[in-house]
Amino acid sequence: MQSNVSIAGRDVIQIADFDAEQIRLILNTAVELKSVLKRSIKKLPSLRGKAIVNLFFEPSTRTRSSFELAGKYLGADVISINAATSSVVKGESVRDTLLTIESMAVDAMIIRHKSEGVPQFAANTVKPIVINAGDGCHAHPSQALLDLLTISQFKAPLDDIKGLKVVILGDILHSRVARSDITILKMFGADIHLAAPPTLLPRFVDPSVTIHATVEDAVKDADVVIVLRLQLERMQAGLIPSEDEYSRYFGLDARKLKLAKPDALVMHPGPQNNGLEIAFDVNYSEQSAIRAQVNNGLAVRMALLLLTLSGEREVL
Ligand code: CP
Repeated sequence: MQSNVSIAGRDVIQIADFDAEQIRLILNTAVELKSVLKRSIKKLPSLRGKAIVNLFFEPSTRTRSSFELAGKYLGADVISINAATSSVVKGESVRDTLLTIESMAVDAMIIRHKSEGVPQFAANTVKPIVINAGDGCHAHPSQALLDLLTISQFKAPLDDIKGLKVVILGDILHSRVARSDITILKMFGADIHLAAPPTLLPRFVDPSVTIHATVEDAVKDADVVIVLRLQLERMQAGLIPSEDEYSRYFGLDARKLKLAKPDALVMHPGPQNNGLEIAFDVNYSEQSAIRAQVNNGLAVRMALLLLTLSGEREVL
């Protein structure tokens, strides 16, 4: 039976704008696209004739390169603009930058910015589809989708995520990933736990989430442990006593991980501060799904571009 669920023509600003069926559609499409990524010739004609611009006002390795490759593997023309080498450094405003790019007949803009709300502003300002690639501490929807895909790949299918114990550790306050992950995991019924120093917790946390004072308490019997990067660039002074102390009490090392289930999955959105929030041996252990997350990120971003720009479901 043909499903009428669609996200064709939709902007992707935050997870809360989508329902569970639309998220299932994105993840199922990503799973189909993963088989394309294993082929020697990965190029599909699905988005031939479409133009996509990556507009990154903040640094990125994973998100920017995977959106760029995702568009190229689907046959679109893709360019990436790094704000540091664009006319932004000459004083051009965000609005003028958006209007300039729009005037080049583009079909989609992928936007990352340090200020919350810039992708929504773009969606209100220009006609091309806008996909939020991370805005300040607000949202990172494609990261949440790839995290859910990774959990469904290694731990439980989407229908069985209900009750799975998922722990998020570290700098929750500055984390758009934590906010987006909590929204999507709650939608599928996961049992969500947080551990962070009180100075790195937001004032308001969803009441369904359990907060722990120690990592040891939080990770006990966990199915999944998501470690967050300590975002030193967004941090005002004095939020942690020292990096050494943070690492000792809130970093995930092999001793603390042993308290989780023996097959617990370790995830991290990257980039990792090795030896600070995550120990080297945990990062590279067999329990680590960090590289699988990157591969899933490519598939999820292909699915987002395919579904928003063409509405096509069939990819094979
Ligand atoms: N997870 C993530 O957004 O990584 P990048 O900053 O490298 O894109």
